[in-house]
Amino acid sequence: MARENGHSKTILDDMVGVGDCVLLDPVTEDAFIDNLKLRFDAQDIYTYIGSVVVSVNPYKKLPLYTINKIQEYRGMNLYELPPHIYAIADDAYRDMRDKNRDQCVIISGESGAGKTEASKVVMQYVAAVCGKGNDVDIVKEQLLQSNPVLEAFGNAKTNRNDNSSRFGKYMDIEFDYKGDPIGGVITNYLLEKSRVVVQSKGERNFHMFYQLLEGAPQVLLDELELERDLSHYHFLGRNNSGKSSNINDKENFSVTQKAMQIIGFTDEEILAIYQLLASVLKLGNMEFKAYITMNGTEGVKITNQDDLDDVCEMLQCERHDVMHALTKRTVRGGKGDKVITALSASQAFYARDALCKALYDRLFTWIVRTINESIRVKTGGRKKVMGVLDIYGFEIFEYNGFEQFIINYCNEKLQQIFIELTLREEQEEYIVEGIEWTHIDYFNNIPICELVDKNKAGILAMLDDECLRPGDVTDQTFLNRINSSNYIFGHKHYESRAKLKSDKTIDHMSFRLQHYAGAVTYEVSGFIDKNNDLLFRDLSELMFKCEHILLQEMFPEGSPKYASNRRPITTGSQFKVSVSQLMKNLLAKEPNYIRCIKPNDYKESMTFDRALVRHQVRYLGLMENVRVRRAGYAFRQLYEIFLKRYKMLCPATWPNWRGQPKDGVREILNHLKLTKDKEEFAYGRTKIFIRNPRTLFELEQRRHRRMEGLATLLQKIYKGWKAYSRFQQMRDSAILIETQFRGYKERKNYKTVRNATITIESYYRGHQARKEYRRRRYQAKCMWAAGIIHKFYIGWKVRKEHRKHFKAHAAPMVMEFLLRYIHTTYLRRLQQHLPTMSPLDYTWPPCSILHTTAHKQLKNIFIRWRANQYRKKFDEATRMRLGEKVTASILFKDKKTLYPKSVSKAFQGDYVRLRTNAKYSKTYSTTNDQHVVFADVISKINRGNGKLHSQLFVLTTASFMMMDQKTLLLKSRIPLADVAGFTVSPYSDGIVVILLKKGSETTKKGDLVIVTDKAIELVTKFQRTCRTATNQDAPVKVADRFPVDFNGTRIQATVCTLDANVSNPTPSVKRKGAKLDIMA
Ligand SMILES: Nc1ncnc2c1ncn2[C@@H]1O[C@H](COP(=O)(O)OP(=O)(O)OP(=O)(O)O)[C@@H](O)[C@H]1O
Ligand SMILES: [Mg+2]
Repeated sequence: MARENGHSKTILDDMVGVGDCVLLDPVTEDAFIDNLKLRFDAQDIYTYIGSVVVSVNPYKKLPLYTINKIQEYRGMNLYELPPHIYAIADDAYRDMRDKNRDQCVIISGESGAGKTEASKVVMQYVAAVCGKGNDVDIVKEQLLQSNPVLEAFGNAKTNRNDNSSRFGKYMDIEFDYKGDPIGGVITNYLLEKSRVVVQSKGERNFHMFYQLLEGAPQVLLDELELERDLSHYHFLGRNNSGKSSNINDKENFSVTQKAMQIIGFTDEEILAIYQLLASVLKLGNMEFKAYITMNGTEGVKITNQDDLDDVCEMLQCERHDVMHALTKRTVRGGKGDKVITALSASQAFYARDALCKALYDRLFTWIVRTINESIRVKTGGRKKVMGVLDIYGFEIFEYNGFEQFIINYCNEKLQQIFIELTLREEQEEYIVEGIEWTHIDYFNNIPICELVDKNKAGILAMLDDECLRPGDVTDQTFLNRINSSNYIFGHKHYESRAKLKSDKTIDHMSFRLQHYAGAVTYEVSGFIDKNNDLLFRDLSELMFKCEHILLQEMFPEGSPKYASNRRPITTGSQFKVSVSQLMKNLLAKEPNYIRCIKPNDYKESMTFDRALVRHQVRYLGLMENVRVRRAGYAFRQLYEIFLKRYKMLCPATWPNWRGQPKDGVREILNHLKLTKDKEEFAYGRTKIFIRNPRTLFELEQRRHRRMEGLATLLQKIYKGWKAYSRFQQMRDSAILIETQFRGYKERKNYKTVRNATITIESYYRGHQARKEYRRRRYQAKCMWAAGIIHKFYIGWKVRKEHRKHFKAHAAPMVMEFLLRYIHTTYLRRLQQHLPTMSPLDYTWPPCSILHTTAHKQLKNIFIRWRANQYRKKFDEATRMRLGEKVTASILFKDKKTLYPKSVSKAFQGDYVRLRTNAKYSKTYSTTNDQHVVFADVISKINRGNGKLHSQLFVLTTASFMMMDQKTLLLKSRIPLADVAGFTVSPYSDGIVVILLKKGSETTKKGDLVIVTDKAIELVTKFQRTCRTATNQDAPVKVADRFPVDFNGTRIQATVCTLDANVSNPTPSVKRKGAKLDIMA
């Protein structure tokens, strides 16, 4: 963000307390702790002491480790931004990459203070800022993934820390010339292996056991013969602290397993590791029981044989060998002779635990070795190195044993190189900057280190001597020995009861060392045992014998070829060697320090326990640190940065200094006259050095005041500029509005003038045009008048000439002419308005009363002519047919319901093809009946009973006849002159009554009633034929009640129907006396 804003923020900006304790004034422990608390409360967990970062564990996630933060700190100088691990990580990385100086980051602090977290922050930063690419990413991933594996196997929940590292770790990350990581080496120190077999109350075994049982799939557990239940295992469930709500073992199992795979462990190796873990758990469950052997000696036996079998299977060894190794001990004589003795039950338990501890410890070392093999740099060439040391801090407990002794020794050594390196750094800087070095008094802890590690005389040497000494060796003899050593006894940092007889704070079995961080009393019990760290040879031989793939490599001393009389190196010496190697390693590098502090014992995020912090500040030697850093000059800064920050304090440098920055700084300080003491400032080659923090604060205050003045000035200028720009804006706007308005006004004015001009012009033109018009009209009038006069004159002349002829003949001629004109006009109009040629068009145009008669006649003529024209269009047969249809219409339309059905049917007349029957024509030409008008089979109603008989009915131009329909035998013939008329019903039936005239021979039987489906055609043709033949009309009557004459009797006939629209071909006819009922 600092860079985004374009100006750099320094450590002095927004500072809570002081960001660098070198600036503390006064330099007291209280002021130091107050400052830490102030910053801790403001969540500023990092504070510098020069280039050392003091980190107070916040016990909560802070937004300090984002990618943005990394970018913010990238490439910035240490004091340019608020204190952060990223700042020193960046400084170290750039020094290594650009100046080719190997670096180390030494992280110290007590358990739970945040060392491991800090080391991860450093690694995260380096991984983020170094190069990228496939190979580099793989290396980075392997380096980062080593953490979860080492934490799973080397960390455990303790009362002080849920993820406490139970080993020391130093990791060298190696880079190529570009600064890209190419590999690394991990060194581990002193795993707390006793935790495998016993843990304090509330603490747990190493995480990996729990991860395996919680996270492994059931098949794997089955293969390892393990139960998921923690309480099943003696080494895990006893404290009932196996399951922790803060730790997700199940999830961590897959994280660890994945990390192992990424690092390059094969599946076989991973399984082998799990087998060893399972074996440790099973061995832990083994119980031993004492018994008396047959020959009366004491022996011991294993009670739970199942576990023993499982262990044998897992480690691939003989049951007998395991039994033997756990319950017996082989004592070798000098000449190679062996004596086997049985162990007591407690010795057997001890041997079992020793085996478990050794197994786990060596497994851990093997894992570290395998990781190293995987991350080892495979290429040659020059490497740059950055080491990260995460090692247990100074420990002072109520009870301090062998472990605390060597841990504190390690810290003493670290403090020693810290002082040495800080002073060296300080001195180097002074030399580089060309400033005179003044001697600094400091607490020199070399004598304490020597008290512990001095060759042949130190406590460790005494301990080794005692361990090697034949005879009865106990912790007490060891204490006696150091008390009897002149060097130790006389050392001013050594105290014991023997030395200070009256001091009851020292136990008889203890000694006390005055460490740089405070006095620590160590109880000697366990010193000899732990230093020896002996694994019975029987056990190492057993392990070597196993066919399990890792064990031979892990227990080389079990090999028969191994020189049996060679004494294994003691823990103390081993540690001393590795510490001295470490020191050598660190001294060859540029150190960077992170000092971690735990704010409280309860893992609470907002609690700052002053007493606890004071304790840590003391044993971390932080005040010593401040003092060393403050011994010369408290503050130093590059001239460029200093000038940039304070240039506003001097008119010569403000706003810009054109000369050298150093001269600019000198100009400022001379101008300010802050102090008369000439020694207050020292001008180095690139940096200004300030002796007293107060001077710096004075500078800061002045800067602050000046900044306020500058802020006012800026405000003033800004306000002026804003007002001026507003004025300019308003002025421009006013001009614009004015221009617009004027334009608008002018346009409006122009329009008015233009309209007025046009109006005047048009009036004038109108006036001119009217004048011209009047002139022309007058001229035309004159012409017209002249013409008229001329015509009158001509007329007068002609009339005068013809007057005598005109007077005698004019009237009748005029009249005739007029009439002819009127008639012609009438006829022409009539011609134009004649109706259409359709005979159905009855319209006729109106006329004046002059032509009424002619008009009527003309109408008749026209209608007839039109009918004639219409008729001419048809041939004779069609005319005949149409005539019949017209007749049928006249007779039946709207009278008989059968009629509409007959309209569309053609009247064929001869339905039996009599006309083409030659025999008929020949037979009936004698009676003039050869011209058949109608012939069809009909039903005749019997006059007596009303029954129907089919007969052929033939109508000719002379008569009508009844014949047999098959034989054509004539039954009756009645001339047409005897037909009087016809009666039909108004319904759809086919009943036809042929009324006959009385008095003739042929008609004596009376009227004829027939039924035909062609009633309309029959009657129509009959009626027309009668009229043609007799020249008289035979009337057709339509009625449903009518009289008929049968044989001279008058009968009342009634026609009924159920539906007037339906024709019944066979009506039922009943005669009852003088009644004839026809149901049609
Ligand atoms: N910077 C941090 N931000 C948030 N939490 C932190 C930070 N540092 C430490 N912690 C918390 O404190 C706990 C202890 O930290 P860590 O394991 O680093 O301690 P340690 O110094 O390595 O202890 P030990 O010596 O027991 O290994 C962490 O698990 C974490 O919860
Ligand atoms: Mg740790």
